[in-house]
Amino acid sequence: MRVRNVKNKEEIINNSMYTMEDPYLFRGKWSSVFNNSNPIYLEIGIGKGKFILENAKNNPNINYIGIEKNGSVLSYAIKKIEEYKLSNLKLICFDANKIDELFYKDIDLLYLNFSDPWPKNRHEKRRLTSSSFLEKYDKIFKKNKLIEMKTDNQGLFEYSVISLVNNGYKIEDISLDLTNKEDFINIRTEYEEKYILKNNRIYYLKVIKTC
Ligand SMILES: C[S@@+](CC[C@H](N)C(=O)[O-])C[C@H]1O[C@@H](n2cnc3c(N)ncnc32)[C@H](O)[C@@H]1O
Repeated sequence: MRVRNVKNKEEIINNSMYTMEDPYLFRGKWSSVFNNSNPIYLEIGIGKGKFILENAKNNPNINYIGIEKNGSVLSYAIKKIEEYKLSNLKLICFDANKIDELFYKDIDLLYLNFSDPWPKNRHEKRRLTSSSFLEKYDKIFKKNKLIEMKTDNQGLFEYSVISLVNNGYKIEDISLDLTNKEDFINIRTEYEEKYILKNNRIYYLKVIKTC
């Protein structure tokens, strides 16, 4: 996601009610952050935060954690989300590369929405559904491992289906045209809205790996 550099991004991030000084301290005990035992859903790469904000507003009995590596992008999300006082949402400026240092058996479901496709073979490891990321995700889930992904990138979608199945996941739901999928409650992301306007096809996948 390309945005202008936000000069006071650190100030915005550090002063937000949605962020925390040292998120590493809560590895293995994220329920204590929310002060309840509700499920915790994680989104990696929240962009400007529309998807996680709408989810957190609609589902007060689910806790949400959003991770975004780009501080400027995250500060845009925070400015939007600060209007609301949601006790079931936390945001972290963080690169998912080290995701297993932040969580240990804390997460119930992981969202990967319009992740960067990294099409070159030499960048395969950077794809958020590569085996090296999936190995890290294995450590962060409480019990069963549930992942939902959306993308308009056919190459990344096909790659992800193969990678997830090869790593022990079973397909629970799949759509090659999410925009026209019936009986499906879909909260659109910023990128999704942009791509729908361009008539791009949206792919959707829900997979599970049981213990
Ligand atoms: C293409 S944008 C999609 C944003 C949003 N999910 C949407 O659908 O509108 C991908 C976002 O993921 C973030 N991102 C990419 N790799 C990441 C990583 N390893 N850790 C955290 N965030 C990442 C990028 O900074 C960018 O904001």
